[in-house]
Amino acid sequence: MEQQRKTILSGMQPSGELSIGHIAGALRNWVTLQHDFDSLFCVVDQHAITVQQEPAKLRKWTLDLVAMYQAAGVDPSKSVVFVQSHVPEHVQLAWILTCLTGMGECSRMTQFKDKSERHSDNINVGLFTYPILMAADILIYNADLVPVGEDQKQHLELARNLAERFNHRYSPTFTVPEPYIPKVGGRIMSLQEPTKKMSKSDPNMKASIFLTDSDDDIRNKIRRAVTDSGSDIRYDEQVRPGISNLMSLYHIATDKTFADIEAEFAGSTGYAPFKEAVGEAVAAYVRPIRERFLELRADEDSLRAIAKAGAEQARHRAWKVLRKVYKKTGFIEL
Ligand code: TRP
Repeated sequence: MEQQRKTILSGMQPSGELSIGHIAGALRNWVTLQHDFDSLFCVVDQHAITVQQEPAKLRKWTLDLVAMYQAAGVDPSKSVVFVQSHVPEHVQLAWILTCLTGMGECSRMTQFKDKSERHSDNINVGLFTYPILMAADILIYNADLVPVGEDQKQHLELARNLAERFNHRYSPTFTVPEPYIPKVGGRIMSLQEPTKKMSKSDPNMKASIFLTDSDDDIRNKIRRAVTDSGSDIRYDEQVRPGISNLMSLYHIATDKTFADIEAEFAGSTGYAPFKEAVGEAVAAYVRPIRERFLELRADEDSLRAIAKAGAEQARHRAWKVLRKVYKKTGFIEL
């Protein structure tokens, strides 16, 4: 008998221009995982509005992500690709989970604390309950594994607690999800301040490599990347964050291990030859993804059709779970 495949779910926020961080940190893994798992990949537009968004940009970035998932290799005939707001069952479940969450659980979230400092003019309740909606995204599909960055671990812990709480209070219903955090290359840092994560919202354009950067843009940004004092190529995130970050990028672009990279540049004088090699490799890595992206992005009708088909599959599954949850909660059937 064929063993039932485990389910994975992940999502990205349409809240900025696409960067290599999206690909390196997440999409690369999704593309591999989709072969072995029942996979759902969501564009979380409802999470994006926890900070103020311009509607036209939100629309653009949502379609950008639908195109980029595919450009990076997510196959919509294998994986369910959809937009969060097309599947209202997420927020419906989120309400029930909200009523099972303590204020303290949300106020302890480090991302809430960071974001409310950075957006002190707009500390809305959505920013506060954000992790509950994320829990709903995951639990409504009974996902077993959730590929995320290290910064989402605390949110995942809440999702696990809420699954257990509901199961305990009513009866076994939800799978308790596990985080799946990539080991190497998961975190790409700013090219200008390598102790900070590369962020799509960084106002310094030289800090990030965008998916739409030309080959020359990429080479130049890497040439000008801030590096550490010293001159040999050695991986050490603490002492040499700049060089280590470029090594991560080189690893992603070429699949070479850190040991291979150190050996390749052993004895070279200064960082220049290394930076040239990284620039060339990253440009070559991004080029086919950019080309596929631009082609897919030009056909909005197809992108919308893919999102629609994905939403239909997702809703079918989400409704089955929500219906059970409603019953157990004590809501009478319509
Ligand atoms: N909070 C995640 C992030 O910013 C995005 C996200 C929302 C997500 N819902 C999710 C990730 C569900 C994984 C699963 O990266």
